[in-house]
Amino acid sequence: MIQKWFPTPIYYEHYKDLAHLRSLIPHLKKYTPDNNKELLVQGDIKTGVATINSYIHFDKRFKKIFDYIEEHAIKYAKVRGIDLDKEFLYLGKSWVNFAKKGSKVSEHNHSKAYISGVLYINSTDMNDNLYLAKYRKNDPLLVPNEFTQNTVLYKVEPGKIILFPGDISHGVLKEYNGDDERVCISFDFYTTSIYGKSQPPIPKHINDKLLKQIKKNYD
Ligand SMILES: [Fe+2]
Repeated sequence: MIQKWFPTPIYYEHYKDLAHLRSLIPHLKKYTPDNNKELLVQGDIKTGVATINSYIHFDKRFKKIFDYIEEHAIKYAKVRGIDLDKEFLYLGKSWVNFAKKGSKVSEHNHSKAYISGVLYINSTDMNDNLYLAKYRKNDPLLVPNEFTQNTVLYKVEPGKIILFPGDISHGVLKEYNGDDERVCISFDFYTTSIYGKSQPPIPKHINDKLLKQIKKNYD
């Protein structure tokens, strides 16, 4: 007897107002190290950067976008069995990624987040794919069947939002090959029941400076 257990729900949708997304790019650019030496970054500065420990959801210019993200995170959390009357689901971190031609995103996860996700603002590479992998990418030595298939691809398209469990490994399959930069917003949601109210910790040494900077953008 073989039984099948533990399916993984992955959520995706499309944000329709692409003109609004495009209008955000100059504002998102302000969060890159070219424009702001204070920001911490990860990645290869020549090909792609992600600001880390950024809390761009505090910036009111992105309110419409984060309201949209939150709306879908709530739907997704309900599918995953979170009782929102008893548990507090909250957006803990958000940051922006810019990727030039030749950039890669190697496999990683956000293990402390209950929901991780991405909203694509721009990509001009027809073969740009996000992969999600349970445990690790498909092992070529395994015979493909429904149990060995543990990797899925999502085509990167402007306006697409993808939500997935934070502990799922993910990355980008190939080097980015678009002429215009890929731009996306990434974010992590947490719940109080699993990680306690203090999550995520905002690193004290960057907290005040960074938050002050972000709050300058408030009306
Ligand atoms: Fe990630």
